[in-house]
Parts: sequence; C-alpha cells; structure tokens
Amino acid sequence: MCGIVGYIGDEQCYQILIKGLHRLEYRGYDSAGVALIDSNNNINLYKSHGKVAALEKFCESKDVTGTIGIAHTRWATHGEPNDVNAHPHMSQDSNIAIVHNGTIENYKVLKQALIEHGCEFRSETDTEVLVQLIEYIKNSNKCSLLSAVREALNEVIGAYAIAVIDKNTPNTIIAARKSSPLVIGIGENATYLASDATPIIDYTNKVVYLNDDEIAIIKKDEPLSVIKSNNEPSNIDIQTLKLSVSQLEKGGYPHFMLKEIFEQPNTLRDCIRGRVVNDQIQLSGVMDNKERFMNAKRIIIVACGTSWHAGLIGKRLLIDYARIPVEVEYASEFRYSNPVINPDDIVIAISQSGETADTLAAIQIAKEKGAFVYGVCNVVGSSIARATDSGTYIHVGPEIGVASTKAFTGQVTVLTMLAIAIGQLRGTVDDQTVAKIAQSIRQMPELITEALKLNKEIERLSYTFTYAHNFLYLGRGYNFPSALEGALKLKEISYIHAEGYPAAEMKHGPIALIDHELPTVFIAPSDELHEKIISNIQQVKARGGAVIAVITKGDQEIANLANFILEIPEVPECLSPILVSIPLQLLAYHIAVKKGCNVDMPRNLAKSVTVE
Ligand code: M6R
Repeated sequence: MCGIVGYIGDEQCYQILIKGLHRLEYRGYDSAGVALIDSNNNINLYKSHGKVAALEKFCESKDVTGTIGIAHTRWATHGEPNDVNAHPHMSQDSNIAIVHNGTIENYKVLKQALIEHGCEFRSETDTEVLVQLIEYIKNSNKCSLLSAVREALNEVIGAYAIAVIDKNTPNTIIAARKSSPLVIGIGENATYLASDATPIIDYTNKVVYLNDDEIAIIKKDEPLSVIKSNNEPSNIDIQTLKLSVSQLEKGGYPHFMLKEIFEQPNTLRDCIRGRVVNDQIQLSGVMDNKERFMNAKRIIIVACGTSWHAGLIGKRLLIDYARIPVEVEYASEFRYSNPVINPDDIVIAISQSGETADTLAAIQIAKEKGAFVYGVCNVVGSSIARATDSGTYIHVGPEIGVASTKAFTGQVTVLTMLAIAIGQLRGTVDDQTVAKIAQSIRQMPELITEALKLNKEIERLSYTFTYAHNFLYLGRGYNFPSALEGALKLKEISYIHAEGYPAAEMKHGPIALIDHELPTVFIAPSDELHEKIISNIQQVKARGGAVIAVITKGDQEIANLANFILEIPEVPECLSPILVSIPLQLLAYHIAVKKGCNVDMPRNLAKSVTVE
C-alpha cells in the first residue's frame, strides 16, 4: 500500500505531485506529504494526517515552489497515522528526504545500531530508519547519494519502493524497488515516477517498470540510468502505456464504485473480445502451454479477498469442465503452510492489482517448488503479471474504488473461459456445452445491462436496511462464493457486519442468529439446488427473519415467500455468479451511501495490499 509520486524537470511540480497523490489515494489515505527542493536548494517538507485534501489545505500558505519533488500518501503500518509518522521522512541533519512504500522487516535492529551511533529518531516508522541509515553511510563513507542508497538497501530486509532526494545533490532523484511497484515516466524535459502509471498518464505514455533490486538514477536534463543492487548496469525497457485519462475519472457518477458497477457491460465486452470465437473459447495462455494443461494433475488457486472468492467459483468451473482436482488457498495462509507442490501442478494466482504481497509471495514459493504459475490479473505490467509464467489479463480497465466490482466479474468470466479452454484441450467438455456457454458468455454484457435496471429499486430498498447491525448472506453451489462476496462488499463499505454462508450450513449454527432484526440475503437463482434453497428460505421465514432474495425472473415460488425480491435474467448456472453480483454490489453501495460512508475509500482499507 502507500502511493509514491516524484518529479524532476523544468516545471513547478507541486500541483503535479498533488494531482498524482489524488490518483494514488486508493492505495492509502491515512496521511500525505510532499518534499520540494526550492531554488536555494533547501528541502521544504510539508505533511499532514488525513487525506491529500488536508495536505493541500495545510500547504495553502506555504512556499511550494520547486521543480524537483517527492510526495506520498500513506497506509499506516508502523506507528499511528499522525503528522510525525507521515512521509516524506528526513534524515537527522535534514539533508535527505525519502518516501517509501513497503515494510523494512529488520528496522528494529538497524534502528538500535543507529541509536548507538548517536542518531535521534522523530517518528515510529521503519522508513525513518532507512533515511537515517542512508545519511549515516553517506557521511561515514564520504560517498555519493547513489552509493549510500545502494549500500543501505543491501542492509535492508523487506519490501520497498523508495524515492530519495538530497539537498547536496539537488538535480537528482534516486529511486529503487523490491517487491513494491515503481513506474518511471519519460517526458519531454521531465521525468516522473509513481507507484503506478495513473499519475504519469497526463504527461507521457512512455514508461519504464522498475524491476526488483533495481536502482534508478533520475537526473535533470540527463537520460535515465538504471543499475542493479550489485552495481551492474540494467537494461532500460521503455514501454508505451495504453491507459487513457478518461478511464481514471468519475465520468459524472458520484463515486468510482458506482461508475465501475455500471461499466460492467463494457468491461465484460473488453474481457471476452477475441476470446469467444465461433462458439469456441480461445485463450492464448492455454494454447501456448498445451502440454502443461494436458498433463496437469492438480490446480491450486491462490488469491486474497474478492479474488479468492472468484477463485472458489473458478474451482467449481475447473472441476465441472476440465475435470482436474482443484484446491483454493488464501495466499496469506498458503505461503506459510509448507505446501506440497509437484512439478505437474499448476498454480493459478488471481489478483486485480497484481501487487498483493501475499499473492506474490505464494507465487514465489510455487515457482521455487517447480510449479507452472498462471496469472489472472487486471493491471498490465504489474508485479504478479510479470512474476507468473503465463496468464490471462481480465482487461476491465483501472478499478479505483476500493471495493472490487468489475474486477470480480472479469475474473469469473476469465475463469469460466479458462475452464472451458482447458476442458476443450483435455476432451472433458463436449462441443454442445462449449457452444452453449460461449453463446451465454457473449450475451453477458446485455444481461448485465438488464440487471443494472434494478438500481433504482435497490436504492429504495436500501433505506429499509440502513438500521441493520448484521446481515446474513446465503447461497449454494456456484453461489456460495457469491454469498461470501456479497457479505464482503457490504461489510467493507458500510461497516455493517455481514457473514456469508453455504445456505445448508445455516442449520449447523447461524440459524440461532435469525430474528426480525437480522436481514438475510438469499442468492437463489433457478438452478440445480433450487428446491433445497426454498426450504432454507422457509426456515428463515419461520423464525421471523426478513428475506431479500436474488432470483431468476418469474420465479413465483420464491417471490411468494421472500419479503423483497431482486429479479435477474435467466442464465446458465455456471455464469450466474456474474449476474447475481450486480444486485449485491448495488445493495452494498446504496446502503453504504445512505449511511454516509465514504464508499470509494472505506476506513482502514487500501486498494492494493502491498504489505503482509
Ligand atoms: O488486487 P487483489 O485482487 O490481489 O486484491 C485482493 C484483495 O485485497 C481485494 O480483493 C479486497 O478484498 C477488496 N477490497 C475487496 O473488495
């Protein structure tokens, strides 16, 4: 988490940095800060707890001149989110300033050693330890800023993306990365750097993605140079961005989340483009690795949060259509579980951001043990996309709202195509089934458009439920993960406690919670287990519980039972999780808005979780 922005060039950069911080605020919004080198080569440092807007207010009467600067928006890991712990951090003699995303795991040992050498610390952060270490090395060895940064990073255990400025080397920014992303933008008479490309796209589409253990030397009026941490030169691979500025704006919607919910017909079109052809599914990632998929003995899916829920649906799809045993693991558990992985296992890593630290670590373990790792990512060029052996992008465009919506439907769509493509290869799915699912996938954008018409009705319904302190979400089969996802959406943006459960498990415990104060959302489209879920609904009604049911249009039986119904178009069972997610997203959104919550930036959360 945390967002970094930097600029060096001919222009006054304060506004560039602030605009960049706004774009990166989804990565953390506990505090923000900026450090600028002015025309006298002094570093002016301003920081404030709270969001970037608070920093702007704080800077209103300050000298914010300077053509070189670094800035940061923080998701707190070490020390509470106050002004002192906000980044940038300064070295003891205030010559060097740093911004950092990641965590320095051995910071306590380093801090103790520095204290013994006379260093005094102002903050509780691990980052201040790094800047003090850089200054200590620079002064003791009488070396350049670059050498000091390089040596300091060799002492550090942990993850970092950093940008460093020094008043004694005023025309330079040193940047480096290990396990946390950093992108450098090459403009005309200017170089930009940021945690992702969104702050850069306004100025240039030429970017360099820094690799792990690389250090960039960014100098005014000089070409970019990059070295490895062992001092060897690195190749610079300049890539062209395909992002557009309009994709990063709200486009008339009050929140990014609502915009992203409504984008789903189009994002699904982008997701399936060129992949569903003549009633066949064609995924280059599968075609390029035929042998791997033919011979796979087992698939292990690793992911976190919403991506993990998509993984659970992927498991059902792969079992049904590719007939391969599948396990789904939380990446955070998998990495410490001493997993048994064989060379003919395939590990599928699912991640919207492509930067989730736990998922990256799980990939590393799988690769060390010889598995073939396949990525399902959204962000092109992200760390996970680059760390995997092959993969399929979901292509749903930038997702800014912290609550994942269009990425979830994109992930489930890709996993459906993946299961069918592998099934076609292994001969485990017949042509008729492939054609039926391919046609239904093609219809999904229109069916989603239909489901989105529920918006007004759900907005009205949401008034009734803002009082609730708890919610239960129940579903079966393909839609048990939908229940988990619906509950996660509600809790993360409205702060209402919500639990997802397999509907049939209710009688083993959660039924004790049912009373007139606990609304239950049943995800009950007409499918194989329809009769069974009707009896689950009856059990809740018999105990005075209010039922909201997501049902297939025309399902009179459940309509007669439930207090509220949300009707979606008919769709094959395996694709129903995509469609049911629309009313669930809208319900969470409207309840949270009615409660006055900041749906795009819920408290304590960040969009991309780049720390453990
Ligand atoms: O970027 P990733 O898909 O790897 O992120 C995983 C989770 O952090 C993410 O899905 C999180 O649970 C969302 N806030 C859910 O809406």
